[in-house]
Amino acid sequence: MAIDLLELPKAELHLHIEGTLEPELMFELARRNDVELPFPDVESIRRAYVFDDLQSFLDIYYAGCRVLVTEQDFSDLTAAYLQRAAHDGVRHAEIFFDPQTHTERGIDFATVVHGISRALVDGERELGITTRLILCFLRHLSADAAMATLELALPHREAITAVGLDSSEVGNPPERFREVFERARAEGFLAVAHAGEEGPPEYIWQALDVLGVRRIDHGVRCMEDERLVEQLVAEQIPLTVCPLSNVKLRVFPELGAHNFRTMLERGLCVSINSDDPAYFGGYIGENYTATADALGLTRDQMVQVAKNSFRASFLDEQDQARHLEAIG
Ligand code: ADE
Ligand code: ZN
Repeated sequence: MAIDLLELPKAELHLHIEGTLEPELMFELARRNDVELPFPDVESIRRAYVFDDLQSFLDIYYAGCRVLVTEQDFSDLTAAYLQRAAHDGVRHAEIFFDPQTHTERGIDFATVVHGISRALVDGERELGITTRLILCFLRHLSADAAMATLELALPHREAITAVGLDSSEVGNPPERFREVFERARAEGFLAVAHAGEEGPPEYIWQALDVLGVRRIDHGVRCMEDERLVEQLVAEQIPLTVCPLSNVKLRVFPELGAHNFRTMLERGLCVSINSDDPAYFGGYIGENYTATADALGLTRDQMVQVAKNSFRASFLDEQDQARHLEAIG
């Protein structure tokens, strides 16, 4: 392909900041905070990153989060991601964080938000990457717990653009969170939700119709419901697809079997993202390159994907137009 996919300006729209915790930093923070890790070294952590499904990943991901304790830890984590993202041509990033993973361990909500936000401000100044922050509710916990988390977020509303929904999908349908999303939207937050990663197309319908989301995270199982695909295409509802994640979590047996190309050619507003790059073997650049190679995507198709990423972002129209012009 006569195009450098790392240089291609892009937006990253599906990235869990806790999923960027590389084993080296995990070790450093464990030492700094006197947290015991069940692994003797970095190599053995990497070797443990073999997953059967979403839940087997989440168990390890939440365990790793225990090393994140101070504002500085969250700031270091975020700064490291932004450096890596800049290298991969990211000009704008909309970043998920999972406050409940931390507040449940007694970490203050403010510690998490202040640490992440400090690095985002520095990153914009030093790297020119603009950002938005998205608070994700953990769907394996109760709707009441999500509502309590939303209350904690209200004093920090200027730092947080949207709410999302993540964690164990199957058995935790979006409709359980109707009230908390209604309240969040009434408070001025935008909404997104993970749906159709492992869960059925019905969960995508619920995310749209019950939660009022502006984007679907993953959404690859929409292809099983033709009426849903027609609606997603007609309304150009963005789907933030994460190809390397889908292979690692066995949603698809290999990258060559991924339905990304079919989705793109069907006219869906799909983008390519990295999800939890420290765990899934690649940041956004590798996701672009490996997907293009495995599925034989053309230069024009990859340009379309990058354009989709800006059109699907929460940037205003003027900023979107500026980025689209830069792509050409
Ligand atoms: N939390 C972090 N990564 C996730 C994913 N891929 N799906 C659901 N919840 C997550
Ligand atoms: Zn995700």
